[in-house]
Amino acid sequence: MTTREMQDEILRLKKEKGVCILAHSYQSHDIVEVADFAGDSFALSQKAAAVPEQTVLMCGVRFMAETVKMLSPHKKVILSHPDAGCPMAEQMDPDLVQQMKASLGGIPVVAYINTTAALKCVCDVCVTSSSALRIISAMPEKELIFLPDINLATYVSRQLPEKKIHFVHGGCPTHVRLTAAEVERARREHPNALLLVHPECRPEVTEQADMVGSTAEIMSYARASSAKEFVIGTENSIANHLAYECPDKKFYALSKDCVCHNMALTHLPDVLACLRGEGGEEIVLDEDTIARAVRPINRMLELG
Ligand code: 13P
Ligand code: SF4
Repeated sequence: MTTREMQDEILRLKKEKGVCILAHSYQSHDIVEVADFAGDSFALSQKAAAVPEQTVLMCGVRFMAETVKMLSPHKKVILSHPDAGCPMAEQMDPDLVQQMKASLGGIPVVAYINTTAALKCVCDVCVTSSSALRIISAMPEKELIFLPDINLATYVSRQLPEKKIHFVHGGCPTHVRLTAAEVERARREHPNALLLVHPECRPEVTEQADMVGSTAEIMSYARASSAKEFVIGTENSIANHLAYECPDKKFYALSKDCVCHNMALTHLPDVLACLRGEGGEEIVLDEDTIARAVRPINRMLELG
């Protein structure tokens, strides 16, 4: 089957079976083309909760499918590839987090949305890469624990010096590959380009950026900007999507190594297999886990 034939079959089956397809922005272009929605992970979960379809196929990684399930507990939620995890989301042990919280007098634990449902159960507030500054700034508490991403925590603490943030040593193995030396080289090779980076990058990268934002924020910034050249410091799919969307502008990946191998596990044939009922994995979370894990998400929505 050609790509076009596969896409047509996916669109036909999706309609016939009443399936909403979500694609995180790090998915490949051929998957984004057949998705109902593409974008940041939390925004996708909210979109899925609002559509009439009772089955949702999440093309992304496991924590994203879990968040979809938490927001739509009565829907059938399928993860596009059973092995697509997010190493960062799975780094922390819930018992250790509880011990850390107790040892610091019970201060709130803020969890990046890139965490497992089990971890969210022991956290107080969730944030996304686009809402972290706003939500933490709106929290009445001055002192908090932030997990799992030490780079996002550092970025937030530099912007909000009035907050005392306790870090834990976790992070994204994809974004951590981007280095200050690569920024230096990109500046030299593309002196007119703006540098747009994700806050999961190391501080020495984010502090040199012209703009720091979530995947969706990076994309909308590049679309709206009058600049013509951009160096993109996040998963390399974003530079590819932008090059398709804005043919009059130039996009350079900050590093050829910024590839998330978990996101890359899902290919178009996997999407087709899921719709045929021959692939993917249905996400099952018990009622108690959903009730506890959704609490920090609701707190984020109240604060934001
Ligand atoms: P966004 O929330 O910015 O889409 O990030 C998801 C992610 O996995 C970043 O590595
Ligand atoms: Fe997880 Fe990093 Fe991949 Fe995002 S890019 S899914 S944070 S490993």
